Amino acid sequence: MIKYILLVVLLTSSLEGLKLHKKRTNFENVPKFKTLYTDQYLDHFNKRDDRTYKQRFLVNDEWFNPNDGPVFFYAGNEGDIESFWNNTGFMFDIAPVFQALVVFPEHRYYGESLPFGDSSFDQDKIGFLSVEQTMADYAVLLTKLQQDYNLCRKKNPIIAFGGSYGGILAAYMRYKYPNIVRGALAASAPIYLTAGLAPSTLFFQDVTNDFDKEPGCVPLVRQAFDAMENAAKQGDYKLLSEKFKLCEPISDAAGYKHLLLWMRNAFTIMAMVDYPYPASFLGDLPAWPVRFACQQLVNDTAKGVDILSSFKNLASILYNDTSKCFDIYEQFIECADPTSCGLGNDAKSWDYQACTELNTVQETNGVSDMFPVISYNEELREQYCLKTWGVKVRKEWPSIQFWGKHIKTATNIVFSNGLLDPWHNGGPLTNVSDSLVAVIIEDGAHHLDLRGSDPNDPQSVKIARYLEIEQIIKWIEEARKEPCEKF
Ligand SMILES: *[C@@H]1O[C@H](CO)[C@@H](O)[C@H](O)[C@H]1NC(C)=O
Ligand SMILES: *[C@@H]1O[C@H](CO)[C@@H](O)[C@H](O)[C@H]1NC(C)=O
Ligand SMILES: *[C@@H]1O[C@H](CO)[C@@H](O)[C@H](O)[C@H]1NC(C)=O
Ligand SMILES: *[C@@H]1O[C@H](CO)[C@@H](O)[C@H](O)[C@H]1NC(C)=O
Repeated sequence: MIKYILLVVLLTSSLEGLKLHKKRTNFENVPKFKTLYTDQYLDHFNKRDDRTYKQRFLVNDEWFNPNDGPVFFYAGNEGDIESFWNNTGFMFDIAPVFQALVVFPEHRYYGESLPFGDSSFDQDKIGFLSVEQTMADYAVLLTKLQQDYNLCRKKNPIIAFGGSYGGILAAYMRYKYPNIVRGALAASAPIYLTAGLAPSTLFFQDVTNDFDKEPGCVPLVRQAFDAMENAAKQGDYKLLSEKFKLCEPISDAAGYKHLLLWMRNAFTIMAMVDYPYPASFLGDLPAWPVRFACQQLVNDTAKGVDILSSFKNLASILYNDTSKCFDIYEQFIECADPTSCGLGNDAKSWDYQACTELNTVQETNGVSDMFPVISYNEELREQYCLKTWGVKVRKEWPSIQFWGKHIKTATNIVFSNGLLDPWHNGGPLTNVSDSLVAVIIEDGAHHLDLRGSDPNDPQSVKIARYLEIEQIIKWIEEARKEPCEKF
């Protein structure tokens, strides 16, 4: 106990002190890692199929105390695992104090962990991508690590961390494998929304709310979308292509829809990563990008720049126009997830997941949000998914498999949410029980709490991290009371 009081003191002083001056945005102080690979069954659930694939994982054991140090496990989500390593500084701020082993496994079908290389995304190969298979990968790898490092199952407890879909996975790991994971920090994990249990207008309404905090912004955004609609109605695709400096001019309604989606996505991303300092997570963005974008829009129009050009300037805060034009098809991919599938191969895998287990049926109506009407519903999702992946959507399955809103029999999970994050209303915002704790970060965007501490951090995220550390300590203390059990 005394050790832990000391630990808390140490931790808070180290968080408030020297480490605050780390410059996370340039990755200058991102700790080193070893890149390792492990063989995993392609299909954990069909015992007649013994094919395997190579899963990548990153490890740091420089602070690890094998006697009773915990294992900090990041539940890799939809992307290159190195990018999550670079953007999850909170774990590295606290790992040395906890003397933890840090492990980041990569999610199958993302980054380098492609079971069939570039043909992994063929209809007959993609079927091994699922939440269940991924969790089984993690459970198997964590068990192997416990054996390799000769750990006690109890005295070296495994704590799961994750942000966004990674947060969902962290929570699910605790539901499904409590024998392996002692507790989970699920940051910005919209578990209800992705189970299809939220209204379809929720997400973009909350994107709008973020921009509505900036004076004069939303009316200008509406005016700009109206100007786009007017041009499109008159068939003036030439004007739009010129004003938006498109590399490949649009010439029809389909092209125009893509332009709208690309534009809407700029708002989505800026709202999600509305961090208090410049960051390179889903793009290279300035501090408080929502405020920056709004001020620039207000400034531009005040200077007499026409509304469409001002709007294009706003988009260029997020999107590159290095070749002096925008390739909207390169920069935004339309898919089953209107909140964005990301880019490249990762977007293909996420598209498939959005068709199978993660329901992100969200749409805009121009009333509860500031965007043009872009409808999306279960029927459209079904048509798209059948056509693209040959899968029939099973809408109820996520709630059956992962409990829907009936989560109170789970224990030891922190659900943290930032109120600037457009996903926050999709997850638990109140305490469910003594050990299912909700942490609210008033000035936090998408999993700000998982990022490394920064001099510009608002007070609310410092308090949130403190509450999270308290819970983690509780889980570890609980574990240490129990005898050592080896595998
Ligand atoms: C992570 O950061 C390192 C620098 O520490 C950088 O070289 C690398 O490109 C980054 N990786 C990703 C995927 O962002
Ligand atoms: C912008 O373009 C540069 C140079 O082509 C590239 O290195 C960078 O990754 C691009 N950034 C984004 C956010 O696409
Ligand atoms: C907008 O104009 C204000 C007042 O001139 C200035 O302080 C601010 O930096 C400008 N912001 C942007 C993003 O252009
Ligand atoms: C949940 O309970 C913890 C104490 O266990 C408290 O600090 C926190 O504020 C509560 N969360 C909410 C959203 O009320």
